[in-house]
Amino acid sequence: MTTSPADRPKVTVPSIVRRKHTGERISMITAYDATFARLVDEAGIDMILVGDSVGMVVQGVDNTLPVGLDEMAYHVELVARTRPRALVVGDLPFGSYQVSPQQAVESSIVLMKRGAECVKLEGGTHMAETIDAISRIDIPVMGHIGLTPQSVHRMGGHKVQGRSGGYEAGGRERLIEDAVAVERAGAFALVIEGVPRDLAKEITSKVSIPTIGIGAGPDCDGQVLVLHDVLGLSAHRYKFAKAFVELRQQVVDATAEYVADVKSGVWPDDAHSFH
Ligand code: KIV
Repeated sequence: MTTSPADRPKVTVPSIVRRKHTGERISMITAYDATFARLVDEAGIDMILVGDSVGMVVQGVDNTLPVGLDEMAYHVELVARTRPRALVVGDLPFGSYQVSPQQAVESSIVLMKRGAECVKLEGGTHMAETIDAISRIDIPVMGHIGLTPQSVHRMGGHKVQGRSGGYEAGGRERLIEDAVAVERAGAFALVIEGVPRDLAKEITSKVSIPTIGIGAGPDCDGQVLVLHDVLGLSAHRYKFAKAFVELRQQVVDATAEYVADVKSGVWPDDAHSFH
């Protein structure tokens, strides 16, 4: 008997960790509201990331820095309310965890109370103590290294990391060190963003937690993309992303048709009217 994605077993942190050993690849996508959470869950996604990319794709800001903890908590709640089979990952926004491990624990508790089943934060060796503090109170943590969007100003833009060698932030050896530190600190999975394919492969073989790549090639244990990129809704197209459908033009065309029908009086017709 085959199970449809809708009645599959609930995805949990332990079941994600096991995938490192079973080799079954992990799929993650962002969602920020109940409508899309239901749709991606019905499609069989393993993890829904309520990402701080909400800033760019929903709120219309230029980077993730302005997104606040209260806003993230709101979006986590919208997604979690749908009770998805997928694991709900709540992204800790800039300024909600960097001050101290205690601040990070308190912010993680806020997201967990609103329905997150684990939290994600950006950073490597410098975040080890923080990851340790959150994990110690049994909140599962997903790390995120490489092109970390909250470090946009340090990186001088959203730039591929790990292309040059070295132990400076963004250097190849440093990123390997970061991955190992994140695992040792207790993270259960690790997002690797915007690094050369061979580096992501090396990190994936070095750590015993699942790696989830975005712009990191095919050799990670799983992949994550931003929903609006997958649906072709984003105006900007990135080399690492793929529009699996072109919805942007379809939305424009459908709305234009509606506008024209309203103006000409064709809409609403008698069939859509009450009597
Ligand atoms: O916020 C987000 O969407 C993310 C992904 C790009 C991994 O952090």
